[in-house]
Amino acid sequence: MNAVVRKQMSIHPDVMDLLNNQIAMEMKASASYLAMASWCDQRELLNSKDFFYKQAEEEREHAMKIFTFINDNGGAAVSPNVTNVNNDFESLRAVYETGLEQEIAVTESIFKIFKTARKQDDYITEVFLQWFITEQSEEEDTFRSILDVFDLMEGMPLKMIDERFPKE
Ligand code: FEO
Repeated sequence: MNAVVRKQMSIHPDVMDLLNNQIAMEMKASASYLAMASWCDQRELLNSKDFFYKQAEEEREHAMKIFTFINDNGGAAVSPNVTNVNNDFESLRAVYETGLEQEIAVTESIFKIFKTARKQDDYITEVFLQWFITEQSEEEDTFRSILDVFDLMEGMPLKMIDERFPKE
């Protein structure tokens, strides 16, 4: 009976390594959004500031979702080092473009883990990652919509553009 009750690792080891990398990526994204929030805060771009503070929180939540998933399934989650966070941006548009690039990289990384889980018959991780795939699709869409506003309002004052962004 004990053998049945004892916690078994149900995540494939290759998948667990990728999930730990993903924790690091989400925490880096969180730190990066915090840098963007600060950049906007210093320039009184209030909607953008709120948007990026919220993004920073959400990315940390994503990291924690994966963190607890690994440990709850008998694996070993690793607390990552977060280094080389960029705090310098050329413009508000560059901030959002960097955000979109970051989201695209995260989506590709999630797809890679999903494919590995499928290849290794790791059904638990495959199901777990479905939420992240939907989330990434929404996040990319949000950034693309904001960048569309820049195209539509080219030449307008930054504060006016910022006011067109969704309030958090
Ligand atoms: Fe959790 Fe938007 O990457």
